[in-house]
Amino acid sequence: MPLPPERRLALVTGSTSGIGAAAARRLARDGYAVVAHGRRVRDDASSLLADIGAIDYVAADLADEAEARRLVADVLARHGRLDVLVNNAGETMRIPHADLKAATPQIWRRMMDVNVIAPWVLIAEAESALRLSAESGRPACIVNIGTHAAVRPKGGSIPYAASKAALHHVTKLLALTLGPTIRVNGVAPGLVDTPMTTGWDAAIELWNTKAPMRRMARPEDIADLVAALVANDYVTGEIIIADGGLNLT
Ligand SMILES: NC(=O)c1ccc[n+]([C@@H]2O[C@H](COP(=O)([O-])OP(=O)(O)OC[C@H]3O[C@@H](n4cnc5c(N)ncnc54)[C@H](OP(=O)(O)O)[C@@H]3O)[C@@H](O)[C@H]2O)c1
Repeated sequence: MPLPPERRLALVTGSTSGIGAAAARRLARDGYAVVAHGRRVRDDASSLLADIGAIDYVAADLADEAEARRLVADVLARHGRLDVLVNNAGETMRIPHADLKAATPQIWRRMMDVNVIAPWVLIAEAESALRLSAESGRPACIVNIGTHAAVRPKGGSIPYAASKAALHHVTKLLALTLGPTIRVNGVAPGLVDTPMTTGWDAAIELWNTKAPMRRMARPEDIADLVAALVANDYVTGEIIIADGGLNLT
């Protein structure tokens, strides 16, 4: 069903859990028509939508370039517009940094495919719709979810950190390229309590004892920041670190 002309539409990738679900829920609360996304078709899609307050769910495996293209095409075909794109879906791989051979080229390619190239493809496919959105008088908005490990030499593995560092740099390059019609920003979370970090006891202990905020983030802490970047009409090219201050130590 077509949206009323004033209702802005946000696509949040990877919104089946964790940070993406919290960001989708928050944008829905802020009045956006939200399209949720996950890797696969789900039997429980309607309860997910009810939980998040989203209007639709589209499945697409972002490791597959054709699927990434289809995701944007499906959103536009079904809803006719796109105003906000949150590139949140991402994968990590835990590999000791000193174990160079364990970080195989296959893992490097997977990290680059999902964490950098997929957001790039989604942005490229969404560009025309985002430019159209800006004709409403407000710039369109992209938020890329990076990581603190892309800012400091840390993280679950070198390929993961490097792929997210590439995403940070792409964020700045695109902010320069796509302004003033499309703003492009990033959020770089530290440790966040999501399914991705289940059992990361040493990291949790580090945040509980060393970070000035003495805890890991809740997904809602990151969602608040995403919502603030979406609400603002001026900020672009920023990567906001949200690690409870751990980078100061
Ligand atoms: N948690 C942290 O501490 C932390 C810290 C810094 C940055 N981040 C970043 O924040 C983002 C969200 O992480 P999270 O912790 O919220 O993770 P999560 O709870 O594991 O959720 C990941 C989401 O991404 C989707 N996804 C993953 N690979 C995908 C693929 N190939 N195709 C399509 N969808 C895919 C998953 O979909 P399915 O459920 O369908 O698989 C899920 O919706 C990621 O980019 C991550 O790198 C997380």
